[in-house]
Amino acid sequence: MSSSKNPKSSELYIGLMSGTSLDGVDAALVDLRGRPRLLGANYLPYPKPLKAALLALHNPSRDELHRASLAGIRLSDFYASCVGRLLRRHRVAARSVRAIGCHGQTVRHRPDFGYTVQLGNPAWLAERTGIPVVADFRSRDIAAGGQGAPLVPAFHAVVFSSPAAHRVVVNLGGIANLTDLPRRGPVTGFDTGPGNVLLDAWIGTKVGRSFDRNGALASRGRPCDPLLRAMLADAYFRQPPPKSTGRERFNLSWLRRFGVSRYRIEDVQATLAELSARSVANAISRFCRGTTAVYICGGGAHNSDLVERIARSLPGIPLASTARLGIHPDWVEAMAFAWLAQRRLRGEAGNLRRVTGAKATRVLGAIYSA
Ligand SMILES: Nc1ncnc2c1ncn2[C@@H]1O[C@H](COP(=O)(O)OP(=O)(O)O)[C@@H](O)[C@H]1O
Ligand SMILES: [Mg+2]
Repeated sequence: MSSSKNPKSSELYIGLMSGTSLDGVDAALVDLRGRPRLLGANYLPYPKPLKAALLALHNPSRDELHRASLAGIRLSDFYASCVGRLLRRHRVAARSVRAIGCHGQTVRHRPDFGYTVQLGNPAWLAERTGIPVVADFRSRDIAAGGQGAPLVPAFHAVVFSSPAAHRVVVNLGGIANLTDLPRRGPVTGFDTGPGNVLLDAWIGTKVGRSFDRNGALASRGRPCDPLLRAMLADAYFRQPPPKSTGRERFNLSWLRRFGVSRYRIEDVQATLAELSARSVANAISRFCRGTTAVYICGGGAHNSDLVERIARSLPGIPLASTARLGIHPDWVEAMAFAWLAQRRLRGEAGNLRRVTGAKATRVLGAIYSA
């Protein structure tokens, strides 16, 4: 690749994203010299034991500090292998990468208590890769009174906004978040609620699959209206932004509160798909007035049943993948963390006040030198 042979003509960063879905790690190699350009990417699913260890740490349990530290190290070894694979595949030398922006794996997100925890051991990752690591992007925003999330809207604004269209970008991760990009005026954004997390949880517990491929199970079922109404009555959906959420709220126990076991498995799956779709669509109708087009990214972009449900809930608004705007939907978030790492090295702010609710913009992340 020309970038490794001629490092001066490029500014290479790697973004590592491991989101609430707990599916694995997205790694993106990005040239950030001008407009962000994706040079290569890969995805590695979590090995089952690592996923189980991370999932277990979402809930209070015995000796969790020790277990969290060990999980952070295992996770960083895994991140290092993702980085190694990406560099080898694209024939880029570690020394030509300015930094890795590493999101880490969220196991607790409690801005209401003033903290959020992303596991991962950045010192370990810097040591294993020989590349500087920027990590812990969210804490500073929370310390400044913000939600610490979502952080991708600032990146969406750079790559997806247009003076000719009022666009909304929807990231269908475990939790779904949107970015409102009006033609003029401030960029806003927030977590709309569940994206894939409940869909994954239900099919996981009932069928033993980690996700509902293309929404096949949901599309065989029929949404149950009273159930859907009861779920949509959750206070989170009514709450005005700024707001963010996570697995602490939307999880299997939340689901069980609605007595879901009484219904057919596929009907619950359909109801949950409709819940994700409606909560996204309602948020757009309510908070993004005048939207002319919606662009989808994140793993949920592959769930055709879910995407169709969102489209049906937003009549008259065209829906497309972010690929239409030049970035494949699988890599947008990892690219965002590469970009946030560059902002950190440059001493530039990474948050948007109107998105996170922080009292001011802040430089986000901590640097671990190579
Ligand atoms: N072909 C597909 N059909 C349905 N769902 C999919 C498909 N591919 C990915 N997904 C969903 O996307 C999720 C991963 O999305 P991702 O953007 O990585 O979320 P996160 O950022 O929370 O990790 C999976 O857990 C799964 O629910
Ligand atoms: Mg993921």
